[in-house]
Amino acid sequence: MARKPVPVEQLSPLEAAAEHSRLAEDVARHDIAYHQEDAPTISDAAYDELRRRLLAIEETFPELARASRISASVGAAPSGRFAKVQHRVPMLSLSNAFADEDVTDFIDRIRRFLKLGDSAVIAFTAEPKIDGLSISLRYENGHLVEAATRGDGAEGENVTANVRTIRDVPERLHGAVPSVFEVRGEIYMSHGDFAALNAKQAEAGERSFANPRNAAAGSLRQQDASITATRPLRFFAYAWGEAPDLPADTQWGVVQAFKSWGLPVNPLMQVCHGAGELLAHYRKIEGQRADLGYDIDGVVYKVNEIALQQRLGFVSRSPRWAIAHKFSAEQATTVLERIDIQVGRTGALTPVARLKPVTVGGVVVTNATLHNEDEILRKDIRVGDTVVVQRAGDVIPQIVSVVLDKRPHGSHPYAFPHVCPVCGSHAEREEKGGKADAVRRCTGGLICAAQRKERLRHFVSRNAFDIEGLGDKIIEEFADEGLLKVPQDIFRLEEKIGSTLKDREGWGQASAANLFAAINARRRIALDRFIFALGIRHVGETTARVLARAYGAAEKLRDQAREAAPGNEAWDELTSHDGIGDVVAEAIQQFFGEPHNIEVVDALLQEVEPQALAAASTDSPISGKTVVFTGALERMTREEAKAMAERLGAKVSGSVSRKTDLLVAGPGAGSKLKDAEKHGVEVIDENEWFNRVGAASS
Ligand code: IVH
Repeated sequence: MARKPVPVEQLSPLEAAAEHSRLAEDVARHDIAYHQEDAPTISDAAYDELRRRLLAIEETFPELARASRISASVGAAPSGRFAKVQHRVPMLSLSNAFADEDVTDFIDRIRRFLKLGDSAVIAFTAEPKIDGLSISLRYENGHLVEAATRGDGAEGENVTANVRTIRDVPERLHGAVPSVFEVRGEIYMSHGDFAALNAKQAEAGERSFANPRNAAAGSLRQQDASITATRPLRFFAYAWGEAPDLPADTQWGVVQAFKSWGLPVNPLMQVCHGAGELLAHYRKIEGQRADLGYDIDGVVYKVNEIALQQRLGFVSRSPRWAIAHKFSAEQATTVLERIDIQVGRTGALTPVARLKPVTVGGVVVTNATLHNEDEILRKDIRVGDTVVVQRAGDVIPQIVSVVLDKRPHGSHPYAFPHVCPVCGSHAEREEKGGKADAVRRCTGGLICAAQRKERLRHFVSRNAFDIEGLGDKIIEEFADEGLLKVPQDIFRLEEKIGSTLKDREGWGQASAANLFAAINARRRIALDRFIFALGIRHVGETTARVLARAYGAAEKLRDQAREAAPGNEAWDELTSHDGIGDVVAEAIQQFFGEPHNIEVVDALLQEVEPQALAAASTDSPISGKTVVFTGALERMTREEAKAMAERLGAKVSGSVSRKTDLLVAGPGAGSKLKDAEKHGVEVIDENEWFNRVGAASS
């Protein structure tokens, strides 16, 4: 049977830090795969599990939460293909309930928070959780003026032209609509339309979509809105953003107003009183799930009284007044035929289960993720075993457990390889805080062909250098021939094979010219993409952006990072930035401490000119000011607050001095408040902060 992971309370601070950084990295990677690439690689259930563990660790070790923005972030930052839209009211996420007790806990928490007695009955709405993508529609004087995706919750993508092609989304609302109203809801695709679209795609030789949600996301986020117009997208309205004038004082009432304005609302929404009614409605919706004709992955419960919602407020990324009660994932049993080991960019050996094909919830599954060596050991998963696999609207399913009764005689525990299957180098698990890292890594570095290829793949990927025409197969081919070893070789390719590429099989004059044009077009590249492309461990797009803003030039980052050592000035500077804690700083320092990497960076800088990012907003009311946050913040995490302030051109400091312009103080503020009084610094609360920065409260 599967053994449970070590309870969070039993982790030492060092173990917690190591696991936290691994989880944060995983979550960030999956966020990008899901939100930006519309191509998730793990099941929703597996993702939820990662996120739950991350939050549990942060609850027990709050200092880790402070060092990370991940747990407070929603989704992934916008992809850069569409204009950005700052959400006036953040687009948040929902926390999840899985078991019935999670629902009763949710209600108890609300009761305690509102100081209501045990017998007080709270009214909730309960409605399907639509498995699509959320959208914010801004109506001014009843006319649709802007549509934006969620993005990272603070900033989304402007997809107005695309949304205007969706029939379910009215261009004009009927009746007495407030002059400004942001409607929020879900764009989705029905099962029938999804199947027809995939059949059409296959016929045209185009890629098919993994599931209706990816099809909806891929269809909406088209540069050319006339393509979106040919895709059968649907919409349900269920929430709102900026809405100074609400048409009712309950959730139910507002949604009824939506209906009267001509917006589609879900017919299964109902008002329930207490846990019993909520759970009964949940079971009813679960029973109808297969016949609805569109994907839902749970039921959302929301406190009905808007006045209570406002009192309850938010914690981190989700409202206290709502929860998503998820359906359990679909499972099936099959045989594990083989375990393959893949070698990643940083040398990580990742085991992948190859399964005897089995249908799980309507999808044929042949691969499952095995996470890492310990996971295989913990579950004692052996080749030949009959295993329970689980998926939920996803691409790579998970192995939940082994059916021991069916274990073949004479089977052996799986022996995880200690040498890299690609280059034969020793593969080891680093010691981190006295404990072996979960990941075994090939020590071959760039002599390992797999790592070299992965690094090149990452370098040209969409959110890095985004070089069209250098796909996986071509990288593989050029790398095998020794034409591409390190990233700078890409920019020397024209010199080497400029005259002969057109004569190669599969190439012609035009495609060869296009490739070199695509490469040359990237000789000027945004600094954050440049930094992200280097593939430094723990440095995802968000951190790359932070570094780009902080240092302004690759040379400066390189020099500072080489100088940094725990405790010195360069280190303190490095770790003073949003989202850069000791773990990330160490990875940056190690990267630039490696002569080979310096060689790559310097050679690249001979070939390309990274462009500093545009300065943060200069016309905001806080631009150029020095701001300090203190006390408990209710509507945003400290990290979000810091990021928001920096985005708006302010400098965030950790202590109050004469140079401070503004102190944002929440409940429990102590010495900083006194310092502010001493230095005559202006003090405001969180609500006033939102008033000033324009992200008006809901
Ligand atoms: S309410 C402040 N209602 O689920 C919370 N969300 O995990 C606003 N979703 O981002 C969200 N169906 O994309 C709400 N009936 C529903 C929903 C729903 C689907 C999505 C939405 C949201 C995500 C949160």
